[in-house]
Formats: sequence, structure tokens, C-alpha cells
Amino acid sequence: MTLSDKDKEYIWHPFTEMSDWCADHHDPLVIERGEGVYVFDKSGGKYIDGNSSIWTNLHGHNDLRINQAIARQLSKISHTSFLGTTNEPAILLAEMLVNMFPDKTLQRVFYSDDGSTAVECAMKIAIQYFQIIGQSEKRRFVAFDNAYHGDTFGASSIGGIKTFFSRFKDLSFPTVQLNSVDDLKSVDAKEIAAIVIEPKVQGAAGIRLWPDGMLQELRHWCNLNNVLLILDEVMTGFGRTGKMFACEHEGVTPDLMCLAKGLSGGYLPLAVTMTRESIFKAFLGSKNNTFYYGHSYSGNPLGCAAALASLRIFEEDRVLDKLAKKVECLKIGLNSLKLKNHNISDVRQSGLISGIEISQEFGNIGSEICNAARSYGLLTRSIRNIIVFMPPLVINEEQINDSLDAIDKAINVIVS
Ligand SMILES: Cc1ncc(COP(=O)(O)O)c(C=O)c1O
Repeated sequence: MTLSDKDKEYIWHPFTEMSDWCADHHDPLVIERGEGVYVFDKSGGKYIDGNSSIWTNLHGHNDLRINQAIARQLSKISHTSFLGTTNEPAILLAEMLVNMFPDKTLQRVFYSDDGSTAVECAMKIAIQYFQIIGQSEKRRFVAFDNAYHGDTFGASSIGGIKTFFSRFKDLSFPTVQLNSVDDLKSVDAKEIAAIVIEPKVQGAAGIRLWPDGMLQELRHWCNLNNVLLILDEVMTGFGRTGKMFACEHEGVTPDLMCLAKGLSGGYLPLAVTMTRESIFKAFLGSKNNTFYYGHSYSGNPLGCAAALASLRIFEEDRVLDKLAKKVECLKIGLNSLKLKNHNISDVRQSGLISGIEISQEFGNIGSEICNAARSYGLLTRSIRNIIVFMPPLVINEEQINDSLDAIDKAINVIVS
């Protein structure tokens, strides 16, 4: 059996219609290695990693500094319990993360494994917090249509993408789903524990941009109504929108912040939920109030070592300073692509996050276009009729233009 045959025989892939995957004519791409912005398959194919390996990678693949940081930690210990003991990389990373936010705001770091668990944890902290302070009626969440916060039950309760979540809705946590900030007028805050939002841009919804000023309005409403603001920066965090965190665009600090994906530079599964000290303090002093939540790999030293190396690269390589030119290059490229290719109905961008929408008349044709783009050296994924282009921050201007060229050609091949 070839590797592909074995894959089809033994593996169940996420978000995948498996009869299509296992069909005889489907030859899965087996990725073997990566170098910078490129990934290589087993047959020698070379592709720009146009979706940052599912929105995780920041500084490119096989970065020596992250590799060495992981290797150094590996030579000491790869994992140890975070229940009852602690470890150096997790401590230093927590310190570094806290120092990235305004003084006396997000001062506590709770570790978990991925975006969903970071959100799950934020939701549980919010509910338990209000129970502890004697306001247990506050047990509902406000979330948004088309939101995506992950697939564990809590996170999917606040998800707004019907295809993924509607079958589980009657088993979900109580949530008020809104379309826009205006809908808050009809919300009775008495039972609301928290608002959860992907700030600036909804990713899985198809790169949908929120209006400027929305975060400030949400912050204001939360302050007025004794409601916590949970920002899910699992996708937007770590430079993707052009600033370190999307909330910086509006000078807003949340009460709880969820980070994952790019936290480890995209090298290992690692997540954090950060919270204000005032929330943390409510849990102190009684076993009854203890936060009984955790995962076997919480605070994993390898993941934390990778994250520390990734954050140092931000400083060493002045990653954020260099972003503005790349963001501008992408903006110019997207606009000229739209002018040139009449099958594109819209282009949307926040930093290096972009969505290229193909006219609805062609149906959900995105995955066919992405498949075609492979033969022009670009690997990315689509959402329905939207091609997502969200490259690692390390990408250069020439590679951005090559990627948009590949998308243009692929559209012309499929839609002609
Ligand atoms: C905004 C957001 N939150 C949460 C998640 C879930 O993260 P994970 O897949 O690591 O569980 C995602 C994943 O795409 C996401 O985009």
C-alpha cells in the first residue's frame, strides 16, 4: 500500500467529506517538509503556504531558532505535569505575555492546548466567576452570527455557522446570537455573563470584516452592564491583522483573551486564556471556588519554548515594523486582481488576512480553485466560494504577488 492508500484506509480527517477523500481519483497531498514560506510534498512539489498551515505559522517553517529552542527543551524534558509542578518555559512565557498588554490588565495566564480549549476555558471562567460573586443568574453568552470559536461543546455553543453547529444547538449552552452591535439594544444584560467575539474579522465565516469602532462599542456596553468581554484572538493574534493583537486597533482590552494557533509560531499545539487579576482573585481562598479545569498537556514545556522563541523573533526580526509594507503590497495586489478578474465579486483584507470571493453564480467553487492553484505553486484553502489567503508573516512582496498570480490563473482555469 502507498502512504496515500494507508491514509485512506486508516484516517478520518477533520472537516472532510470522507467519501470524496477516499475516492479512487483523489490523491492526497502528503506534505513532507517546509522551509520558510514554502512547503514541499513527497513528490517534490513546492508550494507557498498560503494559509499558514491552517492559520498557525508566523515566521516560516523550519526556522532554526524555533527548532533549536524546541531541541534544547527536548534535551531536558518534553513534558511534565502542570498540576502540582511548574516549569521554566511556561513561567517565562506567561511573564512575556502579560507584559504585552497594558499594565494591570491581563495579568494571569491559564494554559491549554488549542483554540477551542482556550475559548472553552474562558467561558467556564466567566460562568464560575459570576457564581462566586453571587450573580449566578449570569450564565448566558452573547455571540455573533457566523462566528467560529472552535468545536468543543462550549465553543460550538457560541458558534454561528449553521453547517457546523445547528445540529447540536438544542444541546448547547444558552447563547444569544446577534448580527451586529445594534442588536445589543434588545439584549437584557441581567443574565449575560460575557460577550464573545473574533475581533476585527471573522475568519471561518469567510473573512468577514467588522465595522471600525465596534470593539469600543462592545467594551462600553460591557462596562455599563456588568458583562465580561471575551476576545477570541486565536486567529487574529500575533500580527495577522498588522498589529500584535487585533484589539490594539481600537485600544480595547478585554476581560478574557483567548490565544492559540500562532502562539507557538505554528510549531506545536499551545493555547492560553488570559484574564484580569480581579477575576482571578475571585477564585481565591476556598476549595469551593477552585477552577477545576485543565488538560494533560497544559503548560507543555516544548510548546512554551517554541512560543518564547517565536516572541523573540518578533523583536529580533522587527516583524511588526516590516508588516506595513507587506500589508500594502497585498492591498494593491488584491485590488488589481479584482479589477483584472471579473469573476471575483469582492476582496476583503485585514492585515495579512484576506478573502477573495468568487461570484456567487458559480456556486461553492472555492475548493476546485484551490486545487487548481496547486499547479501554480500555491497551497491554500477556501470557505465556500471564498479563497482564503493568509500567509505566514515572513512572506515577502514577491511571494505575495506570486500567490495572487496563482489564484488569478486558477480562477481562470476553473471559471472559464
Ligand atoms: C477565531 C477562532 N477561534 C477558535 C478556533 C479553534 O481553534 P482550534 O482549531 O485550535 O481548536 C479557531 C480555529 O480556526 C478560530 O479561527
